[in-house]
Order: sequence, then structure tokens, then C-alpha cells
Amino acid sequence: MSYICSKCNAKIDVSTRKAKCDCGGLWKLDFKPPKFDLSLVDESTWNIFRYRAFMPLEGEFWRDISLGEGMTPVIQFDEDVLLKMDYFMPTLSFKDRGAAVLIAHCKAIGVDSVVQDSSGNAGNSVAAYCGKAGIECEIFVPEGTSPKKIDMIKSHGARVNVVPGSRDHCADVCRKKVDDEGKYYANHVYNPFFYEGTKTYIYEVYEQLRRIPENIFVPLGNGTLFIGVVKALEEFLDSGIINEMPNIIAVQSEYCDPIAKAVLDNSRHPAKVTPKPTMAEGIAIGVPMRGEEILEYIYKYNIKAITAPENRILEARKALAAKGIYCEHTTAATYAAYLKYCEFYGKTPDSLIPMCGAGLKSDH
Ligand SMILES: Cc1ncc(COP(=O)(O)O)c(C=O)c1O
Ligand SMILES: [Zn+2]
Repeated sequence: MSYICSKCNAKIDVSTRKAKCDCGGLWKLDFKPPKFDLSLVDESTWNIFRYRAFMPLEGEFWRDISLGEGMTPVIQFDEDVLLKMDYFMPTLSFKDRGAAVLIAHCKAIGVDSVVQDSSGNAGNSVAAYCGKAGIECEIFVPEGTSPKKIDMIKSHGARVNVVPGSRDHCADVCRKKVDDEGKYYANHVYNPFFYEGTKTYIYEVYEQLRRIPENIFVPLGNGTLFIGVVKALEEFLDSGIINEMPNIIAVQSEYCDPIAKAVLDNSRHPAKVTPKPTMAEGIAIGVPMRGEEILEYIYKYNIKAITAPENRILEARKALAAKGIYCEHTTAATYAAYLKYCEFYGKTPDSLIPMCGAGLKSDH
């Protein structure tokens, strides 16, 4: 199995320890799964690896890595809204989908120590799976990260570095360590194995509903769920499961919106923004490393990019909680954006919204 550089098309075996190509391009996987067919789903495996026929897995390492991630229910929230309960996960966020596959890959190629930067949830996930895999782990988080997330990362045996400054700066500090010390970068944005895990979000929705909802709302910071969702839907198009893309709506923070701004300008590059503090800390990414790739998908499939109104995040969180859904603020932001979208475009039935992170983790 090979990686291909997204810039210069150089190929390298996936056992490489290099976080990216020498030219600076990020890796993509040279992998085309078989046509999607429910008969290829392993119904005896009760985690995301039931879809392993569509993943580029090496060996059976996933068996010892899985923490039972995935298979989260889809619930009817109201007449128009379906919620996919992705905080019903081992570490309480959707990131477990990607981390399970990424760490299974690390184990397969013999990596014994990794670093990662995160606003909290991806770090939680990577730390937990490293714990399970017996891989040493160091996580960099920006200052202001919820103490609950930090405690959880530590509890899995990982070292935590709290970096003063923005989320983007925290990533820079971690990447410097990768460059200077040759550490393995188990990062959800750089490593394409992560997206092979987040694809299962859509596989599950299809297996559960036997159809794909008309409107798919997805939070968009670095785009790990977004890219997984679009990749899986592309596979469904190729496989004849769907005839056209659903209406995909990507949600950014009003205070950090490089992709939404780029779309307004019809640009193929993320806009330069100065992020302001937001309650939607999970999507506060000023410099999304796969920004060009995300924008390519946006233009190719007519995807909308909207922002979540900051002053309505608490109200949205309250409305969800009043009906039993206690999610974190970043997740409530997606619902706030859905409500705004309905005010703009009118009633929007058959809308799928991910409940990505659990309320007990956030700290506002
Ligand atoms: C709860 C939650 N939702 C959404 C996201 C956004 O994911 P991404 O940055 O991959 O787009 C994150 C990322 O940390 C998150 O923690
Ligand atoms: Zn290259």
C-alpha cells in the first residue's frame, strides 16, 4: 500500500515515518475500495471494523486496538432533524472513528511512540488508542483547553503539553518537534488513515436507514469528518448506492471561518483570518492544512459553507439539552447553524446533524 503526494504525485510505502512529502504536500492513500455493498459488511463485528472490506487495513491489528467505537444510533430529534449520536463513543467524540484506524496502522508498521496536537478531542482519542496499543504518546493542546479533556488525556498515560497561544500555534509547536526529533506524527489532519475511519459515519447511516438523508450538516475545522463524509458519499456515487450528492452543509465558526470566507470570494485557497475566541473551540482552525482539498470538494459537489452564530450557541445547546441531548459547545454550534439555515432557506426536512462531542467535556 502506498501514499501519493497530493502536490507532486510522488509515491511512498505507507510504512514511511514521514509526516508529509519532501515537497511539503500531504499524503493521500493510493487505495480504491470495492463497490459499496452491504453484503460485504461483517455483521459479526460490533465496531467500525465491520466495514473493513472498504478500508486499507494491514493485518489483523485492529482486533486488539478497537475499543468498540462506532455503531452510534441515529435518532429522530424532531419532525425534520435526525441526530447521529457520535458522542456515544469510547472517548466521547467522533474522533474515535479516525483514531482507531490510525493507531491500528501505527501498530501495523511498528511505530512505538507518537506525538499529536489537538483542541482536545482528537488528542483524547489518540491517547486512548495508544494506551490500548501500548504505544507511547505525547499530546500538545492549546491553552484554554478544557481541564476535563486534559485530565482524560493524562489518564490514558499520555504526556500533555499545554501550549500558550492559538490552536494553530500549538500545531506549529508540535510539528517542529516532528521535524526536529523525527517523531511519528499521529495526526488526524495529516495522516490519511484517519479519514478511512471517519468514512464509517456515512456507512453506518446507510446501514441504519437504508438511505442517505437529503441534507447532511457537518462541522468543519480541519475537516476530518467532512472529508470522511464526502469520500464515503463519493464511494456511494461510484457504487450506484446514490445517484446524486445530498445537500451537504459545512459549518464553521463565525469567529474562525477561513473556508466559508474563501467560498464567498470564490477562492480555491482558505482565506486569511484572525481567529477570535469562540465557544466552538473544536472548529476554531484558522489554517486548515487540507484547505485546498476541502475547497475542491466544495466546488465539485456544490457544498454550502455557513457559519454558526456565536451568540446562539448557548441557546442551541439549551434546546438540545432540554430534549435530553447534552453535547459540547462545538456540537451545539452545528445545531445553531442548522437553525440559522432554516431561517434563511425555510423548513429543511430530512436533515442529519452529528452530535460529535459530549457535553460533560466542555468547560464554558
Ligand atoms: C466536538 C467536535 N466537533 C467537530 C470538530 C471538528 O473536526 P475537524 O477539525 O476535523 O473538522 C472537532 C474537532 O476537534 C470536535 O472536537
Ligand atoms: Zn510531493
